Amino acid sequence: MTIVKKLYIKTFGCQMNEYDSKKMIDVLHAAQGMEQTNNPDEADVILFNTCSVRERAQERVFHDLGRIRHLKDKNPNVLIGVGGCVASQEGAAIVERAPFVDLVFGPQTLHRLPQLIETCRATKQPQIDISFPEIEKFDYLPQSLVNQKDRSRGASASVSIMEGCSKYCSFCVVPYTRGEEVSRPFSHVLAEIAGLANQGVKEVILLGQNVNAYRGAMTSKEYSETADLALLLEYINKISEIERIRYTTSHPREFTVRLIESYSRLSKLANHVHLPVQSGSDRILAAMKRGYTTLEYKSIVHKLRAIRPNISITSDFIIGFPGETEIDFLDTIRLIEEINFDESYSFIYSPRPGTPAAELPDNTPYKIKQERLQYVQEKIQQQANTFSQGMVGTVQRVLIEGASKKDNSEVCGRTDNNRTVNFAANLDATDHFIEVKIIAALAHSLRGEVV
Ligand code: SAM
Ligand code: F3S
Repeated sequence: MTIVKKLYIKTFGCQMNEYDSKKMIDVLHAAQGMEQTNNPDEADVILFNTCSVRERAQERVFHDLGRIRHLKDKNPNVLIGVGGCVASQEGAAIVERAPFVDLVFGPQTLHRLPQLIETCRATKQPQIDISFPEIEKFDYLPQSLVNQKDRSRGASASVSIMEGCSKYCSFCVVPYTRGEEVSRPFSHVLAEIAGLANQGVKEVILLGQNVNAYRGAMTSKEYSETADLALLLEYINKISEIERIRYTTSHPREFTVRLIESYSRLSKLANHVHLPVQSGSDRILAAMKRGYTTLEYKSIVHKLRAIRPNISITSDFIIGFPGETEIDFLDTIRLIEEINFDESYSFIYSPRPGTPAAELPDNTPYKIKQERLQYVQEKIQQQANTFSQGMVGTVQRVLIEGASKKDNSEVCGRTDNNRTVNFAANLDATDHFIEVKIIAALAHSLRGEVV
């Protein structure tokens, strides 16, 4: 009888990391038949897929590593691995700080996990591989399979189309931990999506640090040598089984007229764009090296709304960047009101070692930064509430994702503008699009009834 090895993965941070964690599960299942477990006590391999975008996320990794250390003392055959951005940044220093760690691997070497595990077991030595072997990872990953056990978002699948970032915003660690922007070839992305469509996927979410920096090599001579995101979207729009297309995250600098015009031609494009602005002050945007002004940002949104008046625009904000004055902050508030941002993310600036902004003088007391953050979050929440209230009485097309989290007798799904709706319906309708009338707006979700 073969004993199935168990894998426990803890994911920190963003959607890209969640995607990478799924790939780790796929790759270890394909190579070693491993099955995922939610219980670290019964795992043979424990992996932490980490994030270092903000300091707190980084510190939590070491804290949580300390909490599972006893499992290794109990069973020395358990392997503990650290992947993701903290691994990229700290490398061998992780094993120095936490000597019970056996594997350290980066976002671009996760496909090498089976060999790293084998070598570690054979040599009894920690294995460290945090190199950036370009886009090799995708050539070694098994075909994407819709996870039948994990019914959450079963008909919705994420597909990474590019990796890394070459923008080097002065505050951000990503270009150093994930490497430069590299796009997957056009035909590879389309083949993966066609494969997912054959397995019943109806919605794709294209992923990348800057998805609209996508420049995928094309093999057909009929076309230019590389495809941009607008062309990729056009092709995906033609796959009949795919009914809705999302992408995240896009960068204002790469938001081309071609991409904006896609919204008039491509009916499957969701009515939502996540477009991080970071600040409403041109002075701070320049210090952040974002490469656009607020006027340029507003112009993109204006053009999008000329095509899709109801499009939901969400964003990321950094509050308390070094040198942010009260006036800069008020500029951010003004922009939030002018654009009428929907649900967004906002964070207090976190100095990241090795980034240029970490060297800048920062005289704003932390308490002021916290007050500013709270003000921004309340403002955005008010706007999001008004947006939700405006949806009451409308009929929305919802992709049912499964049982509702709060009440198992109901189902939940997502609207085109990415809001969660809970309503009474048969669980068998999971993975189907359905017309739902919105009957109430709550703080973080909507209530509806099937039309
Ligand atoms: N590519 C995206 C863009 O165009 O801005 C951002 C990707 S970044 C990994 C995700 C978000 O983390 C950023 O939009 C930013 O708001 C936040 N972030 C990055 N570095 C940060 C830092 N040092 N302090 C606080 N927030 C940070
Ligand atoms: Fe980071 Fe700026 Fe790239 S926020 S991920 S360096 S676009």
